[in-house]
Amino acid sequence: PWNGLAKTPPMGWNSWNLFADKVDDATVRTMADAMVSSGMRDAGYVYINIDDTWEGVRDAQGNIQSNHKFPDMKALADYVHSKGLKLGIYSSPGPRTCAGYPGSYGHEEQDAKTLAAWGIDYLKYDWCSASTVYQEKDLQAVYQKMGAALRATGRPIVFSLCEYGLGNVGSWGPQVSGNLWRTTGDIRDAWSSMIGNIEEQVPTAQYAGPGHWNDPDMLEIGNGHMTDDEYRTHMSLWALTAAPLLAGNDLRSMSEATKSILMNHEVLAVDQDTLGKQASPVKNGTMETWVKPLADGGVAVGVVNLGGAAATATIAQTDLPLHGTVKKARNLWTHADVKFANGSYSAEIPSHATLLLKVSTR
Ligand code: DGJ
Repeated sequence: PWNGLAKTPPMGWNSWNLFADKVDDATVRTMADAMVSSGMRDAGYVYINIDDTWEGVRDAQGNIQSNHKFPDMKALADYVHSKGLKLGIYSSPGPRTCAGYPGSYGHEEQDAKTLAAWGIDYLKYDWCSASTVYQEKDLQAVYQKMGAALRATGRPIVFSLCEYGLGNVGSWGPQVSGNLWRTTGDIRDAWSSMIGNIEEQVPTAQYAGPGHWNDPDMLEIGNGHMTDDEYRTHMSLWALTAAPLLAGNDLRSMSEATKSILMNHEVLAVDQDTLGKQASPVKNGTMETWVKPLADGGVAVGVVNLGGAAATATIAQTDLPLHGTVKKARNLWTHADVKFANGSYSAEIPSHATLLLKVSTR
């Protein structure tokens, strides 16, 4: 059953893409500070998520303890909460995490209680070495166990399933109290990886909705190996597909371009739209058009130029699921209204850029 969380896709920051194992208490605190001072918190990014490598040894009673990098997890949670933010953490259903630290195998209820006692608000549960003790057919039962354990704590804890798209997870994720589940392998800060991930989750569109989302993995925006046009495409596609928005960059040193991408309120509103629909693409040569119906009866439409050269895109009103004629169209990246003439709108799109419009009949 649903835990009542994540009515819209979760937003926050996660340590893995930037730091991998080089994450510690001091870093998380400075990132929480930066989440506030940069305006990210007020834009909606509230989860600060510690990924793999925080885990220490179990005590004599089997309680998991954090390692030397995190001397006092409860104090860290208190600090993060004092900033108006929430703290997320990570574990694995197997004996070991991907990075080789202790997992929750055989300690599921105990770990859920420990996390709740620390004040944790989000758990990413990463399959990894579970494959040494379970089979793929056990996925649902394994995630069910932790989902139930989290619910039993009585603390609202977002449950993030990290199973790389195994086991047709969308068809049972909500039943195990999953709020999001991975549809792909790990993203890298590269155009091909980002596009590959979003294309890979196209068949899962039917499973997205309020409370439970397909997760094409975390954001790489601002990490430096894509152009700003490519990062705007990354953000546009995650918003159109109602993907969780977990920044993976250094919030303490963001360029103006990175800030304007991550904190574009009009694009964030598309991602966070309460209808919770995941857009699907239609391909025409090197142009790919994604249409997302919105709660107010309008639609968000994104045209991605996958090609190596600038090209002209045309959005025809007849291709959009609208009742009535277009009254208002707005470019969400330039923040300017645009005009449909004779039922269509055309614009030139640079290579790897995205034209993102909101179109309404009111
Ligand atoms: C694999 C996951 O897909 C990544 O996001 C990250 O959590 C690593 N494991 C951590 O070991």
